[in-house]
Amino acid sequence: MNIRIVKDYRIISEMAARHVYDRIRQKGKVTLGLATGDTPLGLYRELLRLHQEHPLNVSRLTTFNLDEYVGEAADSPYSYRYYMNQQLFLPLGIPLAQTHVPNGMAADTNAECERYEARMKEVGGIDLQVLGVGRNGHIGFNEPGTSFDSRTHKVELSSSTREANAKHFGSLENVPHHAITMGITSILRAKEILLLASGKGKAQAMVHLLEGEVTNEWPVTVLKQHANVTVLMDTEAASLLS
Ligand code: F6R
Repeated sequence: MNIRIVKDYRIISEMAARHVYDRIRQKGKVTLGLATGDTPLGLYRELLRLHQEHPLNVSRLTTFNLDEYVGEAADSPYSYRYYMNQQLFLPLGIPLAQTHVPNGMAADTNAECERYEARMKEVGGIDLQVLGVGRNGHIGFNEPGTSFDSRTHKVELSSSTREANAKHFGSLENVPHHAITMGITSILRAKEILLLASGKGKAQAMVHLLEGEVTNEWPVTVLKQHANVTVLMDTEAASLLS
């Protein structure tokens, strides 16, 4: 694992954006795995800034998001599809047909999970996966206890994850109870992983990742088993490391 501890969120965002920008520039035909939540917002903002300065050719860019809430439609401001369209896809000018987010409104969730996995395989897998991490160590919405063998599946969100996300929904009761998420196996299949962690809330997860054992009680620790991971964290996220 390549570990970079930097001063603050702004530097994480700039370094992460540069990393993603360079991959798109170098490869042209590239498949990105993308995350939502607060952490990648700075990356997306900075990527758009770089794109304005020196435009990227995004005609051969394909994306797959990690997860989506069950019951939130694409045009719901709470859905991750909506978030991605607003924060990145529309301003970047990537054809939406090349972007993939699980369909939280699918009548048959299992079929939707299989379709998503099959589509990832069809395009040759993910080249670079961007990840955030939950306070409890979740990646995607793979909560503690999730099997490392998991592929895209439906999950029940833990109360700590629902509480952490309540600020986006106005109140806790509006937060969906279920989501569709790529599984641990789906994530580990990416050729390269870029994990971002900012703030004290992520410090415990960073201790488990860097100083603990690989355990599905802290899903992020599975990244130790991947050959090409870069971790970008700020000093607050690193504050509990010995
Ligand atoms: C979102 C996702 C989640 C978040 C995690 C951290 O697509 O996969 O694992 O990365 O919950 O969220 P923030 O960045 O809001 O702290």
